[in-house]
Amino acid sequence: MEIVRTVTELRQRLEPVRAKGRVGLVPTMGAFHEGHLSLMRRARAECTAVVVSLFVNPAQFGPHEDLERYPRNLAADCAFAENEGVDLLFAPPVDEVYPAGFRTYVDVEGLTERLCGAERSGHFRGVATVVTKLLCMVLPDRSYFGEKDYQQLQVIRRLARDLNLPGEIVSCPIVREPDELAMSSRNRYLTPAERVSARAVPRAWQAVRACFAAGERAPDALLDVARRVLEAEPGIRVNYVELVDAVDLTPIARVTAPALLALAAFVGKTRLIDNTVLCPEQVEAAPEERST
Ligand code: PAJ
Repeated sequence: MEIVRTVTELRQRLEPVRAKGRVGLVPTMGAFHEGHLSLMRRARAECTAVVVSLFVNPAQFGPHEDLERYPRNLAADCAFAENEGVDLLFAPPVDEVYPAGFRTYVDVEGLTERLCGAERSGHFRGVATVVTKLLCMVLPDRSYFGEKDYQQLQVIRRLARDLNLPGEIVSCPIVREPDELAMSSRNRYLTPAERVSARAVPRAWQAVRACFAAGERAPDALLDVARRVLEAEPGIRVNYVELVDAVDLTPIARVTAPALLALAAFVGKTRLIDNTVLCPEQVEAAPEERST
């Protein structure tokens, strides 16, 4: 595996590969866990050359968020990526991505205003901008994103379509710990007691799925189930619990099409997110296949 730092080097390395086959891109901020590795494995299975970008993107962190303390360990990440058969690790310095005088940002309207966008102002503008840049730098045939960050995934699908960005956006299922907590780089901030409290997050959506399976279709009733589970856990402060259309993320009156149950909660100072998609039996198409 080769580590490259500049867009010029990246393009030089990729040039000969393009004629031979498919280039896959896995954008990341490092601190790899099984969730990231599952994306790399999928890319490895489907592509001729796999590029992993590792860039802790300052533009997507708010002024009071964890940019400085975000976990960074290039040596360990290189070992993980190498082990997955990654060909190129693109780890640019900040001024390679945001050169002096940078003035151009990408805003995806509507999709970014609710859920995590309401809480983290400017976050999705930072994500949309860096992902647009990464897709332009790498020009991948396929790029891989996790359903753990469901809203991010929908924002990226939209911007790729709206801006005619190259390649296919591939989504990958959430990878979870044995107790169902979604894997996240932020889980390592949790103290042992907080780690126990965090289990209420997957318990909340599991309880909603059970209620949905029993026939409940009213959003208020389903949301109450999730809130009750989270509020019963003293170590947790609910940030939001919402049930929205799984494609355009707008509120729904009843679950008649695939719906996204999205949760965000603070466990101590650590903000965790999770989600699940509720699909009424009569709808056969997966959410991303429905036209918007
Ligand atoms: P990061 O949090 O490092 O995540 C990189 C990719 O891994 C994202 O597509 C994310 O959805 C996926 N991922 C994280 N945890 C996962 C899990 N438990 N199961 C499956 N996939 C998981 O998301 C970002 O970085 C950034 O916002 C980025 C897209 C790189 C732009 O800066």
